[in-house]
Amino acid sequence: MYHHTSGPYISTMNLAVLGAQWGDEGKGKIVDLLSPRFDLVARYQGGHNAGHTVYVRGRKFVLRLIPSGILHDSVTCVIGNGVVVDPTALFAEIDELVAAGVTVGRRLLISDKAHVILPYHRDLDLLSEARRGERKIGTTSRGIGPAYEDKVARRGIRIGDLADPTALEKNVRDNVTARNRLVSETTMDWRPVLERLLEQAERLRPWVCDVSLALSEAMRAGRSILFEGAQGTLLDIDHGTYPYVTSSNATVGGVCTGLGVGPRAIGAVLGVVKAYTTRVGEGPLPTELLDERGQRLRDTGNEYGSVTGRPRRCGWYDAVAVRYAVRINGLDAVALTKLDVLDGLDRIDICTAYRCGDRLLSEFPSDLDQLARCEPVYESIPGWASPTKGAHRWADLPENAQRYVVRLEEVSGVPAAIVSTGSERDETIVREGVLAI
Ligand code: IMP
Repeated sequence: MYHHTSGPYISTMNLAVLGAQWGDEGKGKIVDLLSPRFDLVARYQGGHNAGHTVYVRGRKFVLRLIPSGILHDSVTCVIGNGVVVDPTALFAEIDELVAAGVTVGRRLLISDKAHVILPYHRDLDLLSEARRGERKIGTTSRGIGPAYEDKVARRGIRIGDLADPTALEKNVRDNVTARNRLVSETTMDWRPVLERLLEQAERLRPWVCDVSLALSEAMRAGRSILFEGAQGTLLDIDHGTYPYVTSSNATVGGVCTGLGVGPRAIGAVLGVVKAYTTRVGEGPLPTELLDERGQRLRDTGNEYGSVTGRPRRCGWYDAVAVRYAVRINGLDAVALTKLDVLDGLDRIDICTAYRCGDRLLSEFPSDLDQLARCEPVYESIPGWASPTKGAHRWADLPENAQRYVVRLEEVSGVPAAIVSTGSERDETIVREGVLAI
């Protein structure tokens, strides 16, 4: 029977949650916290380069590919076509969750249009970094960039393609042959790659579906969706600090292209921002602190990559960058994370503008060379002596911490709907009335 499914779908229920800085803002905690209010949580881009850390009753989960809603039994988790999937990494993650007592079962949907990361993508990632020398990106070496390169070059292998062994054989053979031409140091045999993929196809099959259709049906049935971004606005392939970016659209546009939903399916957009700034990998970071103050943020905030273990570069809050994220994503509000990391500091700086030569810039520059020459213009405000750690009511925050949050809202041009004061779910202040969630 034919069901008429066209026409606008306007939902105010659905929420996009995405990174408003250079990634690692604490999206995992925020998505986990908000998940019980939604029926589905859908990832729209990135791959296992992401590391969304969630602490539940002292237990640590690092989710890489699986949406951070998985820890709630009532939530269905969706991996969209915009995500690149390494089946080996996916199965390892599922096995870890199952071992920890989390049931995945039928609660997972994977798009048949998502592209597969193959073993040679990792080789090509390492090779490309080695060849760039001093201009290296500092990737997570998970093969993310090369998998997206194959997608755009129209030679990629999609999850749905695993169901056709004959076509798959030719595709794998061609791709491995191309890999062997590029990597002269080692030769890869295509046969084991194919065998492995065919085995993996069996395990993947029950989860594979047309995600766009599944989401459309869910919305028509009145179910709500949280759209989960990975990485952050400044790492976006189009709007980030190119070429020092990841290879996908981490910004809000990625929701539509990465899941097959219309723009009106997004009811509101919540950016996640840290109370200071971090970045992992290369590229400009105007507020970076190369002294003991940066080290203090790194140590107190445990700023070491959850996927690669690399130390993160740390600096003060950059309101120019956050205002840019507000503009690019149309942010309705932010979730401000890791406020407690600033506990005990005498003074805290906030970057409100950049100085570039004799020019004062209030907008994030489009040009990377100009950004690299920018010096932050700081406003210094007093810190607080008593801890914010664990506070779950606004009134429990020391007055200076409240002033800091309010000042960040003013200079960033966006309200803070959530303030996170620790890694556990209940170490959170939800400011009612800021965002209808
Ligand atoms: P790729 O995504 O592995 O290609 O890495 C490209 C850039 O994005 C590098 O600077 C990485 O450090 C950065 N990156 C990728 N994923 C994440 C993430 O989840 N958090 C923070 N940075 C990331």
